[in-house]
Amino acid sequence: MCGIVAACFKKGDVVPTLVEGLRCLEYRGYDSAGLAVLASGLPVRKAKGRVQDLAALLEEDPVPHSSVGIAHTRWATHGVPSKVNSHPHRSGSVVLVHNGILENFEELKESFLEGGTEFVSETDSEVWASLLDHELTKIRAEAPLDSLGVMKALNRAMAKAKGSFGLAILVEDLPGRIFFARHESPLVLGISDKGHYVASDVQAVLKETHDFIYLLEGNCGWIDDSSYQVFDRDLHPIEAKVEHLDWDAESVGKSGYDHFMLKEIEEQGIVLANTLSSTTSSKDRILPDFQVSEDTLRSFDRIVIVACGTALHAGRLGRFILEEAAGIPVDVDFASEFRYRNPLVGERDLILAISQSGETADTLGAVKVAREKGATAVAICNVRGSSLCRLVADTILTQCGPEIGVASTKAFTAQVLAIHLFAMRVGMARRQMGEEELLRRLNVLRASRTAIETLLSSEVRSHIAEVAKKYAYKSVYFFLGRGPDYPIAMEGALKLKEISYLHAEGYPAGEMKHGPLALVSEDMVVVALAGQGETYDKVLGNMQEVKTRGAKLVVLTNTEKKEAIELADDVILVPRTDPLVAPLLHVIPLQYLAYYVALERGCEIDKPRNLAKSVTVE
Ligand code: M6R
Repeated sequence: MCGIVAACFKKGDVVPTLVEGLRCLEYRGYDSAGLAVLASGLPVRKAKGRVQDLAALLEEDPVPHSSVGIAHTRWATHGVPSKVNSHPHRSGSVVLVHNGILENFEELKESFLEGGTEFVSETDSEVWASLLDHELTKIRAEAPLDSLGVMKALNRAMAKAKGSFGLAILVEDLPGRIFFARHESPLVLGISDKGHYVASDVQAVLKETHDFIYLLEGNCGWIDDSSYQVFDRDLHPIEAKVEHLDWDAESVGKSGYDHFMLKEIEEQGIVLANTLSSTTSSKDRILPDFQVSEDTLRSFDRIVIVACGTALHAGRLGRFILEEAAGIPVDVDFASEFRYRNPLVGERDLILAISQSGETADTLGAVKVAREKGATAVAICNVRGSSLCRLVADTILTQCGPEIGVASTKAFTAQVLAIHLFAMRVGMARRQMGEEELLRRLNVLRASRTAIETLLSSEVRSHIAEVAKKYAYKSVYFFLGRGPDYPIAMEGALKLKEISYLHAEGYPAGEMKHGPLALVSEDMVVVALAGQGETYDKVLGNMQEVKTRGAKLVVLTNTEKKEAIELADDVILVPRTDPLVAPLLHVIPLQYLAYYVALERGCEIDKPRNLAKSVTVE
């Protein structure tokens, strides 16, 4: 995790851009932050805490004016969050910021200690600085150091480093250039008339440029104020492709909302409209840009979905959607488990990886394992050019714009929609579905915008805020659902535990009597999904079981379900819709519920403790 932003400008002070870039990257890590600029002695400033703490420090103790600098916001892996462990780290002539993990740092550190190197922090990243400095010393012994010499040293260090890294580096005797390298940690270059940038993702500099180079595995190189050079892992110079990104710079701001999470919840109506319009042609052709042929789509015996967290819940709902629409068996697995059980996959399997960021290490690892075993992989992903997009045969890009709140909300909606579209495409290819049914489904999806907007209305929101207030200090939450509502129950529980730190579980309603019923007490809140559908009567029975044992019952249902309404302590009404989209709608009130419980409890909603948005470590 961690966020890197670095820039070389032709003129002007780089510090405001670095601090603003860190603010945009704070979702990647937020326990400490620091920066270094190109000035005499490569001055460094670091602060434990948030980027605002670094900004305050810079007011008190400014660095000299400089147009070149590197900066970092940290999510601790090795060493506690502290000033000394925060980046940049220095060794000899090298000052660097690192995202990733140096797996063999202990072994390397041992050998450097024996050689007399001193370390001040507990981090693996300081060892990276030392590793590079040692290689630079050897190069300097061969010839005067120039940029190519730095690349040679960096290349040698990369060969010795095990693990993942995104790096931005200043070298004291080569001023004016920032060197970079990436392996299994994302890094992009930004290109503008003002200068050049290196960043962990585009959001860091979206206010400055929309032109990016998405670096590939093993790429390294340098930027200066007027040029850049990218090399492959064999140090051959490469022509990197500059891609224009049309994301709105405002989308990385809060647009007047108190929290990104609330803003992102409320964008879900637009996300639906954008996703549908960008993934269907004017003639209602579904996913016109998706490159995997109909013949190929017909050739699989099974689809295996791999993902983590919220994306996994989208996949679990996706299983219902795909099996029903395309008549193909679907398995769903935690990406983090899949790779460690020698999965039985092969040529007749299609792997569908789902990820908002496209950088989740577990998901990437699962796809790699499946591909090694001969499976074809495709993805649903929100970030063009991400590591996941590069790994798979083709990607359905979700159109929800940058998602910044650590709790994923609008990405879930976009992922479920993408699965619907993919299911229609596979259903057509496998002749499970005709034109007429396809058009019907498309119309249902389009029409669901009205129901989404109803759920996003201020009346619904204030009602859920009241319910949240009432139960914010209960200690246990169970979210119950059956069928396609079960993944929604799991997602509701994940949202709540993630941002309010309450114990919450998503459970299949029918399973309560097989154990968890023993837990029910007056301190438990049960949120039951009792909408339409064939399982309604069964869920009603399960609601009675918990109610008679004293749990507080919050029920999501529609006006027609009188028995559910009577049984409930509190009701959240959802519009009655086609069953195809009902589960997707049910997630919205649960997102609001989590948000308002967290707000009531005074939690840090966009940056929950111990978490980060993009989980690039296993
Ligand atoms: O970027 P990804 O979709 O691959 O991320 C997967 C999970 O880490 C993510 O969904 C996580 O569970 C969210 N914080 C949940 O809100």
